[in-house]
Amino acid sequence: MRFRTRAIHVGNQRDPQTGAVVPPIHLASTFVQHKAGDWREYDYSRSGNPTRRNTEHTLASLESGSHCLAFCTGMAATHAVTMLLSSGDHIVAGADIYGGTYRLLHKIVNRTGVGVTLADTSNVENLQSAITPRTKLVWIESPGNPLLSITDIAACAEIAHAHGARLAVDNTFATPVFTRPLEFGADIVMHSATKYLGGHSDLIGGALVVADKGLYDELYFIQNATGAVQSSLDAFLLSRGLKTLDLRVRQQSANAAHLAAYLSRHQRVRKVHYPGCSEHPGHALAARQMDGGFGAMLSLELVGDMKSTKRMVESTRLFQLAVSLGAVESLIEQPAVMSHASYDEEDRAAHGITDTLVRLSVGLEDVEDLCADLDQSLENA
Ligand SMILES: Cc1ncc(COP(=O)(O)O)c(C=O)c1O
Repeated sequence: MRFRTRAIHVGNQRDPQTGAVVPPIHLASTFVQHKAGDWREYDYSRSGNPTRRNTEHTLASLESGSHCLAFCTGMAATHAVTMLLSSGDHIVAGADIYGGTYRLLHKIVNRTGVGVTLADTSNVENLQSAITPRTKLVWIESPGNPLLSITDIAACAEIAHAHGARLAVDNTFATPVFTRPLEFGADIVMHSATKYLGGHSDLIGGALVVADKGLYDELYFIQNATGAVQSSLDAFLLSRGLKTLDLRVRQQSANAAHLAAYLSRHQRVRKVHYPGCSEHPGHALAARQMDGGFGAMLSLELVGDMKSTKRMVESTRLFQLAVSLGAVESLIEQPAVMSHASYDEEDRAAHGITDTLVRLSVGLEDVEDLCADLDQSLENA
């Protein structure tokens, strides 16, 4: 079965009891045991729940993996991956990553004696230099957040594996519609399911997908022991979102490509970061690594300063001023004071997250309306 068919049919078998086309939502927290100590597939919903498991099957299939674990948030999923490491181990993370991941690595995981080094992985030589004999995990995003840098997943997998480390890819921006990192040799795919997978700004969730049963067992143990599972209601909403993922994301990506071309010509815009633009340094790699589109996130450097940039982001009418991304409605934000405010100031400056940077999550509205909205707000910049 192809992607769109799997999105609808894998994990969504009709209910054998009633014939209902949509499987019921299982809200039970506990399940009757036939005899004391006779553990069947389900015993307690932290350890496994039929609604959550159905959604996990769908997502494992879409990511070309064998197993998936659904978490209550994307950060909980990321945290579970870091719990594979022990004191003395080391992580190399891409420099262009979500601010919350930066905070988790630098302010929580480092307390457990795990070292963290940031490297601009858009040039894999930087990964090669940052990796040490203690490195057990390489963490990347492609396209990166918020600068949309592109990292060569296959090359990172090769370097990580040559040093006995695992490669994890936060695939939130690309989605499995455009990139399936396990096909390029990554060991773990992570998602903030809150974003494109859910797609409607009405659920919070995270996920890990792997293609190796041993690694799944290790992560399952961590998830069950620490407890950050996704609720049945959110798992149901996520399942519903996945059915239209391909259609939504392809159209959103087409809207973003249109806006990127328009903004590149705008006199109040100094630079557009969008991997679909031929001038983007990662364009050729993105064209090879991404399957028929470049995603629906883009960022721009405005002419002006912090104040004029604030005025611009506060004056859009359709683009709503909010963190998060990936849903049907378009969002706008200023990374320096919003999504990436948790970066230390020096790291923000070193990694090009300037005061005049604006990030757009392009939604499903009519693209001409979106253009007009940006145009009127740029008048305020
Ligand atoms: C790329 C990326 N990864 C991870 C996360 C964290 O996910 P969550 O907010 O679901 O915990 C986010 C949230 O904004 C994100 O944008």
